[in-house]
This record gives sequence, C-alpha cells and structure tokens, in this order.
Amino acid sequence: MTDERLAHVERVAELVVQWAEALGVPDNERHRWLKAVWLHDAMRDAPAEELKQWAPSADGPINLRHGPAAAARAKAEGETDRGVLDAVRYHSIGLTEWDMVGRMLYCADFVEPGRPFDQDKHRELADRLPRDVDGVLREVLQLRVTYMVRSRWPLPEPTVRFWNSLFATSDSD
Ligand SMILES: [Fe+2]
Repeated sequence: MTDERLAHVERVAELVVQWAEALGVPDNERHRWLKAVWLHDAMRDAPAEELKQWAPSADGPINLRHGPAAAARAKAEGETDRGVLDAVRYHSIGLTEWDMVGRMLYCADFVEPGRPFDQDKHRELADRLPRDVDGVLREVLQLRVTYMVRSRWPLPEPTVRFWNSLFATSDSD
C-alpha cells in the first residue's frame, strides 16, 4: 500500500470511529467496522496479475477488482465475518444486503476529507451521518452513481439493485 493510500485508510478509520462513538455502537461492532476499513483497499495498489489471481471472476474495469480481491484474500487468511467480507468485496459498487459494516465503509470511503472534490458537501454529510444514516447513505449512493453515469461506466448489477432498494421506498427526495 502506498503512503497516500495508507493516509486515506487512516482518515476513513477516523471517520468510522467518530460515527461509532456518536451512534453509541458497542466495541465489538466498532471493531468490525474498523476491520473492514483496514482491509478494503489492501489490494488497491497490487499488480493487475495478482488482482486477477484473487478475483478471477470479477468483471469490469481493473480498478473494480481490488475489493473482490481483498475479500478473497481475507477469507483465505481466515476471516469468517460475512458482513466484513461483503463490505470489502462490494465497497466500490454497493450491495442491497449489507449490514452496517458495508454501509459505514461505503459512506466513509467517499466522504473522508482527503478527497479533492466537493469537500464542503462531504463534511456536511460526515457531520450529519450519526443523525441521519439512511439519508446520508442515499445521498452518497446518488453522488457515486452520478459519477459513474458521468464517466459513462456500465452500472454493475449490484449497484442498480442497491439503488432500487434504497429509493423505491424513499419518500424524502
Ligand atoms: Fe478506500
């Protein structure tokens, strides 16, 4: 992992700790959130060959393989927590079935203060999250999907399902 990547992971960890404290979640749950944070980008700087070995069936652009590769490796090394593994595997694209681990990682990864764009918006979302988890999650999804659409990326099927599950029942926007 590069120094820059490590600094990113540390900022994401700091955010989830803040949220865990504000939400009053127990230590073991905060520990799960942190485990997913530390694992999620573990393969982000790995060579393409290694990513393909760990995630042979992940399709799409190479930069969407690092989540599945990190999850496969964590599983091979003995990680059994399904919520942690799913958080890591799908952290770039979203998953309807996520528990709080996946949801917190997905939000923190995007709104951490080191991202060089929309910093005021991201700070507002980070501050609001403990009072409005569902609302912030929907906004993060919307920002991420907007970015994917603007980039003319194909929308992964789990992303579409996640979108439909969060917005089908929403009456707030
Ligand atoms: Fe990340």
